[in-house]
Amino acid sequence: MFHRQVKVLVIEDDPYICELITLYAEKSGCLVSVANNGMNGLEMFYDTPPDLVIAVAGMTIQDAQMVRAVYLGLELITRFVIVPFGLASLLTGVISSLGTEWGLFRYYWILIKLVITILSTIGLLVHLKPISYLAGIAAERTLSSADHPMQIQIMIVSGAALLALLVATTLSVYKPRGMTSYGWRKQHGRRKVSQQP
Ligand code: HEM
Repeated sequence: MFHRQVKVLVIEDDPYICELITLYAEKSGCLVSVANNGMNGLEMFYDTPPDLVIAVAGMTIQDAQMVRAVYLGLELITRFVIVPFGLASLLTGVISSLGTEWGLFRYYWILIKLVITILSTIGLLVHLKPISYLAGIAAERTLSSADHPMQIQIMIVSGAALLALLVATTLSVYKPRGMTSYGWRKQHGRRKVSQQP
């Protein structure tokens, strides 16, 4: 969470899937760029690093060398961009909560974001292993059908991470008023103190 519009890069050669992801992401307030092949995607990534990359391309590109490049790039991007940014979003989020009137445990939207961000960061760290495994294979040889289950796993996890980011961003924009019982107690306690003569 850097309190600005989330930048999403979609790498996908199917125009319908692209349009679907773009529509949904833009509706949630994200800034979307689209690349229709892996090479284009890598160029766009280095030009303007996005907050999130949706690489459906690794599954659909027919060119075996390109698929290898996608998985090698995916590991670098995950290790050096996504993981540090995930940890930074947790840290800046907790600091913005504790440093403002919002507090960390007073509003449900912040609690939900905290849980989503912690779970996503853990999920990301757990999936570093299969991502490194695929990158290791891509460095040595062409991926085969035996690697498909792991490719599908990475795709599903990326989809779940995208959903988590969209939910966190939507909650941040609308900031639903729902307060936790701790929040109520804090607010009433403060009112009582301020009403005392
Ligand atoms: C991936 C995770 C996150 C994303 C994408 C995200 C996104 C955002 C966005 C877009 C805003 C600005 C909303 C506005 O226009 O006012 C925001 C505000 C805020 N976020 Fe996050 N956030 C994330 C994680 C967190 C976490 C983990 C916390 C704390 C537990 C947090 C706490 C806050 C608070 C307190 C604000 C309001 C700051 C203020 O108005 O002074 N966020 N977030």
